[in-house]
Amino acid sequence: MIWNRRHLLDLQSLTATELITILDTARSFKTINERAVKRVPPLRGKTVVNLFVEPSTRTRISFELAALRLSADVINFTAESSSLKKGETLKDTLRNLEALNADFIILRHHASGAPHFLARFAQAHIVNAGDGAHEHPTQGLLDVFTIRERKGNIAGLRVTILGDILYSRVARSNIWALLKLGAHVTVAGPSTLVPRVFEQWGCRVTWNLKEAIEDADVINLLRIQHERQRVTMFPNLGEYTALFGLNPQRMQWVKPDALIMHPGPINRGIEIESEVADGPQSVILEQVNNGLAVRMAVLFLLNGGRGPASSELDPKMVSKPAELTGVSAPS
Ligand code: CP
Repeated sequence: MIWNRRHLLDLQSLTATELITILDTARSFKTINERAVKRVPPLRGKTVVNLFVEPSTRTRISFELAALRLSADVINFTAESSSLKKGETLKDTLRNLEALNADFIILRHHASGAPHFLARFAQAHIVNAGDGAHEHPTQGLLDVFTIRERKGNIAGLRVTILGDILYSRVARSNIWALLKLGAHVTVAGPSTLVPRVFEQWGCRVTWNLKEAIEDADVINLLRIQHERQRVTMFPNLGEYTALFGLNPQRMQWVKPDALIMHPGPINRGIEIESEVADGPQSVILEQVNNGLAVRMAVLFLLNGGRGPASSELDPKMVSKPAELTGVSAPS
């Protein structure tokens, strides 16, 4: 068995080989998503619960669609309409979901470490869909998948992550994955949001926009995470835009083949102008599309890389099991 983890909690603890296994598996699932019939059976009979205690558009819908494409039953759980509002604990919520035979819990939570906490006693597979300012592993994976598809390789690339690094779980997951795969990572933005401590992780830190973007192969923009900031980290949004917003004028500093990325949601006119977000170098909607294949790969691998009836898979896959059903060990 080349995949023996029960949970996906973070990218910090994954090896480069494990990251590559997920990315290669996602590539196989992307071909499924391009077919007329997009559903395959590996999770038939399994139940996936989307337990979202924080708002989400992309991640929740993407996990729901990924589970459906793998033939699982899907339950969407939102905190607002649940007994969490009546004082039930997260642990008791998990136990009740498991009593209803939940096999996978996809958890988004405002508290850093919430998925790790549940994983200590969960029978179900726990997948971190974003925990506080800690990590957002499937976002990191889909970002790296998108870069790899476009650039061919990660090693040696110069990737700049620009914006609110301090409060960003997306930044942390990207940094771990990119460094393990050999990229040079620059983190940039206002000094209050980009502390020098990231140098200890192996990143270059700069508070100068031109320096951050002029030699980058990839620029990943982040929004300001107001919901996590306990104090005001800069005078006002207008000043942030004036100093760090990416607009068509500043795109003249950027290499013509550099990718412009953003995990969403975008705050148009603040960290990114519409001409850039919708421009020819933007791969923002490709990231969303790739997220589906990446999440299918994660669910498939956590299930042991197998399904109840691999013979029901498309004959093309059955005749090439290493592409999907086998997902045999990467060399
Ligand atoms: N990128 C991301 O996590 O988006 P959502 O908050 O909409 O899921």
